[in-house]
Amino acid sequence: MRIGILTGGGDAPGLNAAIRAVVLRAGEAGHQVTGVMNGWAGALDAAMEELSSARVRGILPLAGTILGASRANPLRDLAASREKILRSLQDYGVDALIVVGGDATLLMAQKLHEAGYPTVGVPKTIDNYLAATDYCIGFDTAVGVVVESVDRLRATGQAHHRVMVAEVMGRDVGWIATVGGLAGGADMILVPEYPVPVDEIIARLRRPGAAADGAGQAAVVVVAEGANPPGLGLPAGEAALASGATMASRGAGEALGRVIEEQAGLETRVTVLGHLLRGAAPSAVDRCWATRLGARAAELAIEGRSGTIPVRHGDLVGVVTLADVLAEHRGVPKDLYETACALG
Ligand code: F6P
Repeated sequence: MRIGILTGGGDAPGLNAAIRAVVLRAGEAGHQVTGVMNGWAGALDAAMEELSSARVRGILPLAGTILGASRANPLRDLAASREKILRSLQDYGVDALIVVGGDATLLMAQKLHEAGYPTVGVPKTIDNYLAATDYCIGFDTAVGVVVESVDRLRATGQAHHRVMVAEVMGRDVGWIATVGGLAGGADMILVPEYPVPVDEIIARLRRPGAAADGAGQAAVVVVAEGANPPGLGLPAGEAALASGATMASRGAGEALGRVIEEQAGLETRVTVLGHLLRGAAPSAVDRCWATRLGARAAELAIEGRSGTIPVRHGDLVGVVTLADVLAEHRGVPKDLYETACALG
């Protein structure tokens, strides 16, 4: 059979490892793989490339995706787009499609499955919000960049006795901020799930013994782009997304930095880590899990198990339905957040 693979939405470290695993596992079983270029855009325009084992040699450690990605969203014009995509795939002789993506990309995969086209997913988003899986491809590398950045910000912040605010991606959840902040020993972590009012942020930064109050000290505050501390006056996250903007356009980090300087009287600098989190070489964890999930996705496509997606359950690869991972956005558990904050 011929299996298609596409990578949609924002790129994430580990995508190339997943592509490589699909090609090698399918090849071992005697099947061919076709890459669909630039996410759903390539499926709509029939932009495809044959993927041999030679083509994927050496791509495991590379960030980005050799297939390209895009935010093209066929759901906006579902009936016509679905027909066009199915025609492209059928014309090219693609018998089943593996879709690597976050919620919007996987929702379209679910629509193809519902239309009777064999479709399998792979969970990918540095934001780590998909339900029914303990992990999404790219999350671990993104956290690693946050940790390294917090270490650097602390060093320069200590030299100048400043508050250093680091804004990190995450959309409407605070996984990257929480785990990155915990591992970096951040003094304060602000996420969408557990809003901390501005008054409390200021009080905590000014409290005697707080990190920014003495020589050689700094306070590092990690703020998720989707955080909305009451009193900061940011538009709601959903409003930003509904208007087609990204969460980053709300400027949570900049707004917070201004308020800290004005109300706490502490010299403050803001760094938006942004796309630096996406462009790093994949960590060992992301390489391993992307490989395991990609290989399992190839098997599921070969077995004809449409509508499924391999996921991480503890140390094992489990299999759930696309509907399961799309059921909700999985937020940060309270106990994890509280531990991260308590030990800052
Ligand atoms: O969903 C992944 C993500 O990196 C989010 O964390 C972020 O809000 C968004 O993509 C940024 O998208 P773009 O690359 O389109 O600016």
